Amino acid sequence: MKTNLLAWEETLFRNPDVFELSYVPDQFDYRDDQTEALAFAVRPGLRGGKILDTVCRGPPATGKTTSVKKIFELLDDTTELVRPVHVNCKIDSTEYAVFSRIYTALTKRSAPASGTSNKQLLDLLAQHIRKTGVQPLICLDDANYLMYEKQFTNVLYPLLRMHEVFPEINLGLIVVISDPRIDINEHLDVRTRSTFHPEIVYFPPYSAREIAGILNARVKAGLYPNVLSAGQLDTIVETCMKCGDVRMGLDLIRRAVMSAEKDARRSVGDSDVEQAIAAHLNLHKLDVIGALSPDELLVLKTAAMLFTPETSPTTKEVIDALPAEGPKSTRASEILNLLEVLGLVDLEYATSGAGRRRYVHIHGEKDEFLKLIAAAGSPGSKQ
Ligand SMILES: Nc1ncnc2c1ncn2[C@@H]1O[C@H](COP(=O)(O)OP(=O)(O)OP(=O)(O)O)[C@@H](O)[C@H]1O
Ligand SMILES: [Mg+2]
Repeated sequence: MKTNLLAWEETLFRNPDVFELSYVPDQFDYRDDQTEALAFAVRPGLRGGKILDTVCRGPPATGKTTSVKKIFELLDDTTELVRPVHVNCKIDSTEYAVFSRIYTALTKRSAPASGTSNKQLLDLLAQHIRKTGVQPLICLDDANYLMYEKQFTNVLYPLLRMHEVFPEINLGLIVVISDPRIDINEHLDVRTRSTFHPEIVYFPPYSAREIAGILNARVKAGLYPNVLSAGQLDTIVETCMKCGDVRMGLDLIRRAVMSAEKDARRSVGDSDVEQAIAAHLNLHKLDVIGALSPDELLVLKTAAMLFTPETSPTTKEVIDALPAEGPKSTRASEILNLLEVLGLVDLEYATSGAGRRRYVHIHGEKDEFLKLIAAAGSPGSKQ
């Protein structure tokens, strides 16, 4: 065995953290309007007033979480009167989990004893805020997950109500939603709707020029000079634009550089970039398919089996081909819509003929698709 397998001297990364998902970049351009809107909403809190509530909306990877983190950093450096609390609702997707996360963040104590009710937890929170006089600014990040679990209004209402019951509690909320299909009002009951009047802060997708600017800044901060060529960065930007996702670009750069490093080369080759793109796309698909429920997998598998490069099945043909124990037609139709949102299939309306026929095209090679489905459906592949 070679003796220097773990040596770092040959690294091409000036700073590998720059390509980590949790990294907050020093240089954060193109989001001045959004960060200013968030700062404006928070500002009254610095003078003991009520922080305004905001809702941040926009497709994935448009800088919503980073903007919130930037405002949080500023608050940490500027004031002791407002305490930022970040809740990742993908992880904490129930009422209890959210309140308990806020409680531990504010009090710095461990989670309350099991058996504590939501009501007791909220009382403890209110007592703590009144005692310290420090106002929480709570970011419910990826709040769409609370909506999927039908918990959103239950989380929001008691937090909004705290200010009504105790006027000295001026907590503020930042609700971040990345699912464009969501109509927020549909997830609020009447009493919550009448108290929640947020400012909406919109995060549009980045243009190709902006994605290039963001990735270029990262390359400068994270890699040694001349490791990645301008042409290779262009290829990466073009690939990102197909999905509109900066995160993908960061992952592609990291993979391509690691592949060059593994072969002890001083710079990235075009084949490193091509391999990185193929690996990223495959892994992404595997992740998405691996997270499907058994019914969703069954619908996807049925569509893939009926698919040939020459003919795509209609949604009705897919639904009719489902086994008796599979989902019924309305549910199966919803599942097909979901599979389209997840980027696994395309549903295309027929341009000729009567009725609203839709064709189901799968994204990718049929055999490879069936292999991924089989891997996802095999015992032990799900928790
Ligand atoms: N303007 C920008 N400048 C530098 N990096 C950026 C910028 N916008 C986004 N990024 C980077 O892109 C990645 C995604 O950003 P972020 O997590 O803030 O997006 P998001 O809108 O919260 O996405 P999601 O909806 O999927 O949670 C992060 O690695 C972030 O550092
Ligand atoms: Mg986010």
